[in-house]
Amino acid sequence: MKILIINGPNLNLLGRREPGIYGNNTMASCLDALRQQYSNIEIEYFQSNHEGAIIDRLHEVGFDESYAGVVLNAGAYTHTSLAIADAIAAINLSVIEVHISNVHAREAVRHHSMISGVCKGVIAGFGLDSYRLAVEALSAK
Ligand code: DQA
Repeated sequence: MKILIINGPNLNLLGRREPGIYGNNTMASCLDALRQQYSNIEIEYFQSNHEGAIIDRLHEVGFDESYAGVVLNAGAYTHTSLAIADAIAAINLSVIEVHISNVHAREAVRHHSMISGVCKGVIAGFGLDSYRLAVEALSAK
């Protein structure tokens, strides 16, 4: 079984970016821990700061039944991208929307998600553990 984790814009800076909000850990250490804990799952990772690249990756895996699903932290595109929402709606795989911070406890502009309605579920506010909770949800189905 495979799971693809996609991170959107600015999430390549995890560990250095606003540590008071996003913590001190890097995505590399998060992925190491996940791959150790879920050694039976092939966990792939893709990060891009570009909306179209995220859409292309969703299309590439979206009809491949060897994936249990996609864990997507679309970053700020969460709040703006009808195009990413359309891509999620277009594919067959389940997508779980993930956020490191609790977006609902932050500025009003972060309260609305363009993608929640086309995702299987939403996990927000658990730091990098949000990714593990999403992997757990996909692996349990
Ligand atoms: C984020 C929340 C978004 O509002 C923000 O633009 C991000 C990260 C999160 O993981 O908490 O880039 O998706």
